[in-house]
Order: sequence, then structure tokens, then C-alpha cells
Amino acid sequence: MLLSIQDISVHHGQICALRGVSLHVRQGETVSLLGPNGAGKSTLLWTMAGAVRARSGTVEFGGRGIGDLPPESIARLGLATVPERRRVFSSLTVEENLRLGLWAQSGYRGGEHDLHQVLDYFPKLAERRRSLAARLSGGEQQMLVIARALLSRPRLIALDEPSFGLAPMVVDQVYDILQDWRARRNLTLLIVEQTATRALSFSDRVYVLRSGQIEHTGSPAEICDSERLEQAYFGFPSTAPQGRS
Ligand SMILES: Nc1ncnc2c1ncn2[C@@H]1O[C@H](COP(=O)(O)OP(=O)(O)O)[C@@H](O)[C@H]1O
Ligand SMILES: [Mg+2]
Repeated sequence: MLLSIQDISVHHGQICALRGVSLHVRQGETVSLLGPNGAGKSTLLWTMAGAVRARSGTVEFGGRGIGDLPPESIARLGLATVPERRRVFSSLTVEENLRLGLWAQSGYRGGEHDLHQVLDYFPKLAERRRSLAARLSGGEQQMLVIARALLSRPRLIALDEPSFGLAPMVVDQVYDILQDWRARRNLTLLIVEQTATRALSFSDRVYVLRSGQIEHTGSPAEICDSERLEQAYFGFPSTAPQGRS
């Protein structure tokens, strides 16, 4: 098991954002985590990244407990998190932003090759490699943070709503790149989205999070077939009358 989250509870002040959540990702797997706004998806990623501490439960990565490690140590172990709002370094150029990704893996000799490969994947970024990141469109900034995360050569990359605010064509492109990179580099992916997206078609397993708890887990087919996703999303079976609660 590459990532093993066991029975964690996480609070923001008085608010209990996650209650007894367990989630596991094996080496090489692609796992989707779905859930409506406020379900606790970002809290789960922040906890994995070391930005937020669990009150109870354990988080292990590569067989070691990471629950007490600072974010930079967790990143160095190969767990990369792409947060939901695009955090680019706006006063740096596109290329400088990408080089920060490389820098996270100092000593690795294939960096320049990887940089070229990433620029091949994202021709928009290649065109604008000398522009300030601040001048990119929202979609381009999203590509930049994903590209930067890939360049840090993570073992696992966790993406928080990578499709948010992107045109459907761009979303497809981003997913194609992730799939391709995954196949070439034996990358493990945890993809967080609000609703079912095309990521489900190449996911091995799916978790549905709702109100801070894992509501369902299974194969993409199981999740879709049983309409559970819709129930999870709307809070009632899609065929039932919409009563007041
Ligand atoms: N910094 C914070 N302070 C207080 N409450 C927060 C904070 N961040 C998130 N929450 C609350 O925690 C719950 C889960 O939020 P979040 O993890 O952002 O869910 P999601 O990413 O699924 O939309 C929500 O009720 C949200 O309001
Ligand atoms: Mg979120």
C-alpha cells in the first residue's frame, strides 16, 4: 500500500470536517475521490500534505507514518499535492515556475529531459515559457501547477478538482497527459472531483465522501450503476420525490 489513511478525524476549530475516514491507494493505482462541496475532500488532501493535522487516526506513505511530518518532508518523500486554487508564483516566469518543480528533486539528472517532455505535453506553456505566470489564463495556470507537480517526480500526485474552471476540451487534455505520464512513470494518482468526470473511466477505484465520511467505495462501474453517486450528490435517490427535510 503506497498511501494508507486509517480512521482519521480532522477538525477546523469547532467544525468536524472528517470523521473516521479511511482511504488506501496502492502503488500504480488511479483512485478518484468524489463528493459534493463541503464534503471534506480538500481537508483530506491538506491532511495528507501535512498542512492540517488529524486529531486521531494515522496517515502512512510508503509504509511510514507521516502524520507528524512538516509539509516539505512529505513532499520530499514523493507525495505531491496540487491544491484546488492554482498557486503559481505570479512574479516568476512560466519556466521558472516549472524549474521550481525540478528543484524539488535536486540531484536527479533527467530534469532537463523531463522539462522538455512537459513542455511538449503543454504547448501553451511552451509558447509562453518566458511570460510571467500572472499573465496566464486560469486554465493555463492550472496546467502550470500540474506540470510543476509532475516535474517534482512524485510517487503519488493528489489533485484537488483539476477540472475546476477549465473548458471541457482542456480537461480532456489534462486527463490524457496524466494518464500518459502515469503509464510511463508508474505514477500513482488520487484525483479529487465534485462529480463523476472522465477521470472515472481510467480510475481503478472510487471513494465517495459526504459530510466528512466515506459513504461508498467500489469500482467506477459499481458507483455509477447503483446511482449511488447521484444519491451522494443530491442527498436523495434520483427517483424519489423531493421533500423537505
Ligand atoms: N479553514 C477552515 N476553517 C473552518 N472551517 C473550514 C475550513 N476549511 C474548511 N472548513 C469546513 O470544513 C468542511 C469541509 O471543507 P472542505 O474540506 O473544503 O470540503 P470540500 O473540499 O469537499 O468542498 C466544510 O464544512 C468547510 O466549511
Ligand atoms: Mg475542496
